[in-house]
Amino acid sequence: MSKRPIALLPLLWLAVANPASAAERSGEEIYAANCANCHGTDGRGASASQTGLAINPRDLTNCRRSNREPDQDWHAVIAEGGPARGFHRLMPAFGEVLTDGEQESVHDYARGFCADPTYPRGNLNLPRPLVTEKAYIEDEFVLSTAVATRSPRNVDSKLVYEQRFLRRQQFEIIVPFGVARMADGGREAGIGDIAAGAKTVLVASLATGTIFSVAGEVALPTGNKDKGFGTGVVRFEPFLALGQLLPWNSFLHLQAGAEIPIRDTAGVEPEGFLRGALGTSIVNGKYGRTFSPMVEGVAFRELTSGATTSLDIVPQVQISVSRRQHILASLGASFPALNREGRSPQAMAYVLWDWFDGGLLEGW
Ligand code: HEC
Repeated sequence: MSKRPIALLPLLWLAVANPASAAERSGEEIYAANCANCHGTDGRGASASQTGLAINPRDLTNCRRSNREPDQDWHAVIAEGGPARGFHRLMPAFGEVLTDGEQESVHDYARGFCADPTYPRGNLNLPRPLVTEKAYIEDEFVLSTAVATRSPRNVDSKLVYEQRFLRRQQFEIIVPFGVARMADGGREAGIGDIAAGAKTVLVASLATGTIFSVAGEVALPTGNKDKGFGTGVVRFEPFLALGQLLPWNSFLHLQAGAEIPIRDTAGVEPEGFLRGALGTSIVNGKYGRTFSPMVEGVAFRELTSGATTSLDIVPQVQISVSRRQHILASLGASFPALNREGRSPQAMAYVLWDWFDGGLLEGW
């Protein structure tokens, strides 16, 4: 009797159960088999009473919420489960269940639940430099500070509140404050010129990795000019901001604008500025803490003939602090490179909280 049919059996079994054939499944099929029972076939999230889960899965069709998350964060959650980004462990890990290719296709399929692509994807939310303003729109608090390393060692800090509205818009309120040395040698704390601004994204392209925005701020003379906390004039600050993703996890920011006194100029000249930051992101492991070293150039000059151009070079590193990546910190130093006379190097830092992504105590 021939042994052939028996030898063929394992082959037949392989053909049916071979994971290679499973890799052919479409994102839709993978989603239906692995995700739909919790997230719903329509992505809105099956109700807790249906799933018996303690919490409702997120509504993936909510573009406002979904699109701000970068692909890297969704991949982390799909591969390693909710806790990879400080979410609930009810979101299971699929790293051992789905191949990399399948995770990619189910991710892309799940992205399709947001039908309105005008909400810029979080991939374009590049790490925030210490000085250059970003083109991306945010919901966040940023507390930043700069301390002069030479006498009189003044401290310039500011608290920035940013909030998104509509699809691609953001407003912000900036409250500067600081500590300065007075003429009598003592130190005094004070509030600077409070500003309010708005920004709108003009271009956000995932295909080219480009985001481009226009923004404007108005600063009011709320600071005490005599004590060095303000300019004493109302200023308008229009600017353009560009963010560009580069190969190897690198990125570029550019910002160009002007500070124009608009009333009672009192000898304050308009000033133009050009700022840029070039950096790269290094992730610890596949989805761990992110370090983003950057070098920033900050150039400014009065817009009068014969004025000198000042330039600061600002090396720095941004670090993700929370697992959710919604609390970030940055440390750096600003070194005057052009027009150094009377300008001190500064130690600089900020702490940033993306409040939309979670409370201060959530997501660790
Ligand atoms: C057992 C139920 C369950 C299954 C199955 C499930 N999820 Fe989830 N998922 C959740 C829950 C619950 C959350 C929200 C966790 C939280 O809010 O802490 C979540 C969160 C997520 C998030 C994070 C959304 C955000 O706002 O950052 C993504 C992305 C996601 N799931 C995708 C998937 C994909 C893709 C699959 C299938 C491969 C899947 N989930 C399977 C329950 C599930």
